[in-house]
Amino acid sequence: MRPFYIALLGFGTVGQAVWDAIQTNRPHAAANGARQIVIKRILVRDTNKDYRRADAKMLLTDDYQTILKDADIDVVVALTGADRAALNYMIAALQAGKHVVTANKAVVAKYSEQLFAVARQQGRACYFEASVAAAIPIIGLLRDGLAANQIDSCDGILNGTSNYILSQMAHNQMSYQTALCKAQQLGYAEANPVGDVDGDDAANKLAIVGSLMFKQIIHPQTIARQSIATVEIVDIEAARAFGYVIKPIATAKRTDAELALAVYPALLPLDHPLGQVDDSFNALSIVGDLADKMTFIGRGAGGSATASAVLADLLSIARHGEHLPQGANYPVASVSLPICSPLQRAGTFYLRLDRHAASCFADICRSAGVALLKSATENDLVALVYCTDYGDLTTVLAELKRRDLAVHNCFITCCSSRLIDF
Ligand SMILES: NC(=O)c1ccc[n+]([C@@H]2O[C@H](COP(=O)([O-])OP(=O)(O)OC[C@H]3O[C@@H](n4cnc5c(N)ncnc54)[C@H](OP(=O)(O)O)[C@@H]3O)[C@@H](O)[C@H]2O)c1
Repeated sequence: MRPFYIALLGFGTVGQAVWDAIQTNRPHAAANGARQIVIKRILVRDTNKDYRRADAKMLLTDDYQTILKDADIDVVVALTGADRAALNYMIAALQAGKHVVTANKAVVAKYSEQLFAVARQQGRACYFEASVAAAIPIIGLLRDGLAANQIDSCDGILNGTSNYILSQMAHNQMSYQTALCKAQQLGYAEANPVGDVDGDDAANKLAIVGSLMFKQIIHPQTIARQSIATVEIVDIEAARAFGYVIKPIATAKRTDAELALAVYPALLPLDHPLGQVDDSFNALSIVGDLADKMTFIGRGAGGSATASAVLADLLSIARHGEHLPQGANYPVASVSLPICSPLQRAGTFYLRLDRHAASCFADICRSAGVALLKSATENDLVALVYCTDYGDLTTVLAELKRRDLAVHNCFITCCSSRLIDF
């Protein structure tokens, strides 16, 4: 059988892990009934750079045209990072008649219309299993394993860096800054961590998951987000005293009237399945109308975990050859329901505020129609409040501001019923 030839675009963490896996896992591929996968070319910016893989050196090129013009190459595996350049590489590959496999969530989430339109026109596959939660096969689950289900909600931990930072803060009493530095030293966080801690990365992944779940295109910029950077140890300890753990949650829910999507630090009960997911692990809880509740946990980043997903896509293409569902694995419809933020809905909220508010906070809550569930005072006043209308919380916050009482943090808890109730 003719080998299945691929080209790698980019030879960084994921590219090298895919290389290593293909060198060592060829027998598995053959056992799976797929053609042997052979890397024919690797696109890099600098062919003289030492990638410490001697056999790969002769395959390096900085000329993309040699890949596009090589009729033997069946699949282009786009692992360069960056948005626009990566999109252009992928579109050029599809136009040259090649299938595309990518781990680039930013491109899939932001440019899905453009990317999948070309894939459909060209009758080529564009697969992206590695773009969400790396080792956990979420895309395959939504596309195939759970295809018969109507899925109306999911909650997940989709950014390993944020989860690592909050876990370190919770378990080792580290400050946010110290935990972030440790994440950077270990290579979990980039030098500029904004995309991870402010929720952009998780919003890209949630946009992809939400689009597949709700079968309509959700753009990441429509997803509300709240940074984890304001979480302090005192919040983690106060949350724990109230019976909660703070986790970086990505949530999507459909009702008859709207879609609610957001990425934010949320308080989960200590025994919630997602509350147990620590360090850089990712997880997704889904409810299917047939399958009921499920939680999937696994490594959401790292070379070999991501290579696992890239290879799953490659094996799928290698196995099915020309009988693939060509490119038609992403919705074409635009959002039909309004997208709202679950952060601005009724629910239970955690507040940390000026300790001087202790004497008047109960009165302020009462007159705004907000139930004060729990409170405690140490250096700050911490409280759990329940509002039947988000407007009531806004009234409380406005009154505190009017009295010059600072609110240091405000996080939603899972009691909002926005999270799946296990
Ligand atoms: N790392 C993970 O755990 C992970 C997990 C899931 C998804 N992803 C996604 O996978 C993709 C790759 O991530 P990574 O961690 O492997 O990145 P990386 O380590 O930074 O490697 C990127 C590679 O692409 C090359 N490159 C960048 N721009 C290029 C261009 N315009 N033309 C040619 N080559 C270019 C770089 O070249 P140089 O060698 O010259 O720098 C480098 O070899 C990203 O989209 C990322 O979001 C990563």
